[in-house]
Amino acid sequence: MIPNNSGREQWGSRVGFILAAAGSAVGLGNIWRFPYLAGENGGAAFIFVYIFCVLLIGIPVLIAEVLIGRSAHKNPVGSFKSLHPSPFWHSVGGIGVIAGFVILSFYTVVAGWTLGYIYEAINGNLLQYSLPDIAQSHFSELLANAYWNVGLLTAFILLTMGIVYFGVQKGIERGSKIMMPMLFILLLILMIRGLTLEGASKGLEYLFNPDWSKITTGVVLAAMGQAFFSMSLGMGAMLTYGSYMSKKDNLPAASIWIAALDALIAIIAGISIFTVVFATGQNPDVGPSLIFRTLPVVFTKIPGGFYFSILFFIALTLAALTSTVSLLEVVTAYFVDEKGWSRRKAVVVFGFAALLLGVPSALSFNLLADFKFGEFTFFDLSEFLSSNLLLPIGGFFISIFVGWVWGFDKVRNEIRQGAESLFDKHPWLLNYWKFILRFVAPVLIIVILLSSIGII
Ligand code: PHE
Repeated sequence: MIPNNSGREQWGSRVGFILAAAGSAVGLGNIWRFPYLAGENGGAAFIFVYIFCVLLIGIPVLIAEVLIGRSAHKNPVGSFKSLHPSPFWHSVGGIGVIAGFVILSFYTVVAGWTLGYIYEAINGNLLQYSLPDIAQSHFSELLANAYWNVGLLTAFILLTMGIVYFGVQKGIERGSKIMMPMLFILLLILMIRGLTLEGASKGLEYLFNPDWSKITTGVVLAAMGQAFFSMSLGMGAMLTYGSYMSKKDNLPAASIWIAALDALIAIIAGISIFTVVFATGQNPDVGPSLIFRTLPVVFTKIPGGFYFSILFFIALTLAALTSTVSLLEVVTAYFVDEKGWSRRKAVVVFGFAALLLGVPSALSFNLLADFKFGEFTFFDLSEFLSSNLLLPIGGFFISIFVGWVWGFDKVRNEIRQGAESLFDKHPWLLNYWKFILRFVAPVLIIVILLSSIGII
């Protein structure tokens, strides 16, 4: 990052921003969460609703969120403070910080599993599972081990803390420039191998041939929550990354790139996994363990599967790390900017606090498996509350703020900077975006939230 004339750091280039933001967006949300949710929610019907949510709500809200950050050059709370005097809006930034913290606590549990799978891959364990059921029983054994879960969670949080502590720039950016393209290529190979399995077409049918009767309000809520989760929206990560962006950059174009990369990687992961599920005659709705039972099967069917599996889990761990870093960075930026803490103190305090909150999530698969809130374990509850409720609520207020509260003359002025020729050529784009932010996004979000809790 290079300092701009106000002294605040900036991304070195437009590509720097796109890569960092895509690093935040692309992660376990695409490769672990998207396939398992699709599997639990009827496959193609879920995917269509998901894409609809990305296009109609996700991209416009992403542009709005990045714009707030780029205009104010601050953390989520500080940005709202500098754009509006009312404490209500400051608390919207505050909810985001809390949501990010909760996501960090359960996300690092799953990220810990991927870290553990690097070890499994190196040991050659993953090459022994030619069928998902066998891979599943190995995974279940690991899950039943509380030490394994808590140990890996701790390791992953320490890794995240180390990077945020020493600066995102050199380590994570450099690392992700190599690992993200590598992850992409490895996923493509997995997809091609999946597609060439006998019986793969049933998987494709499940993914792309929708049975509309499968759409319930629960499915729509899950798809919307996933759109927010996967694009890192509604909690200030994109706002914070936008705060390091230069006003000379074309913000809408960069946002569309991020959304497209994010969705593309999710779909490729979906194809890689469901071709295996159906080619081996399995059920798609096994929940969070889905990738850990299907991927080993493909590794056994690829030449050089041993090296391939090691590289794959290293790349996936790095993709998860670029996301956890953005989560911890939001909390850190808030305490540094607003409370005057040192970066070091903020990272240590909130890293360990996230670990404490993460422990009951890690134990949800073993010691605390029967400790439930309704149907939810502690892990499920953290995941549901933050992703399906807090993120869409954050997105709702971001739309309202940019659509109605900030003052559209100012908004127009801000969004045009760096994108003048785009808006000169297509003036309708601005009106379309404004209409979505004012009416479509907030109404859809509220209707989906209310109907999923049974109010309408
Ligand atoms: N988008 C990340 C993923 O898909 C998760 C995330 C959510 C990161 C919210 C930051 C903020 O894995």
